[in-house]
Amino acid sequence: MTAKEVMEISPIVPVIALDNVSDALPLAEALLEGGISLMEITLRTQAGLKSIEAIAKSMPEMHVGAGTVVNAEGFINALNHGSQFVFSPGISQELMSTSKELGVALIPGVATASEVMLAQNNGFTYCKLFPATVAGGVDALKAFSGPFSSMYFCPTGGVKLSNLNDFLALKNVVCVGGSWIVPNEAIKEKNFKSITRLCKEALSSLGSESP
Ligand code: 3PG
Repeated sequence: MTAKEVMEISPIVPVIALDNVSDALPLAEALLEGGISLMEITLRTQAGLKSIEAIAKSMPEMHVGAGTVVNAEGFINALNHGSQFVFSPGISQELMSTSKELGVALIPGVATASEVMLAQNNGFTYCKLFPATVAGGVDALKAFSGPFSSMYFCPTGGVKLSNLNDFLALKNVVCVGGSWIVPNEAIKEKNFKSITRLCKEALSSLGSESP
């Protein structure tokens, strides 16, 4: 799968941190029921890799990849556990080289013009804008569209129901990422129905004005 294909799967990329592998499958089911077939499972918890593996093994309809991948070791671990793609909060030669060597899509994080140039010059035209609202949000993306007209973004960090349409209205935004759609509380309480509801709420709001 290419980075373009990954970013076109769903307009909303749930950014997930799981503490228990046992929550992985019920969460994947809840997202699918809510209309979202893409998961970015971050490697910031112990359960991250095993959760990716559990979903990759038994839920072929779910596209699952790793997030918070910060070096080659994490990239390789993610791949070995069934990750179909990799998101990173940042960009580095190490990550880009690993992506090319392994032939696995990397969506690197960028926050400045120099980082966008680094991505573009290495052929990575699909990037995360991270941390989106802190890095200038909609205004930064509009500004990037001038000099970097062939670059596309998935703003992540500070995105929520109230601002996602502001981002998705931009020509250079393909999808948005966020954790609001998979609240830790809901996972802890095993309230997966509420996550399905959040997905439906977000998807049905697409294209509308911000509240
Ligand atoms: C993160 O790394 O935590 C993600 O980018 C999500 O950010 P958010 O919690 O603001 O949605």
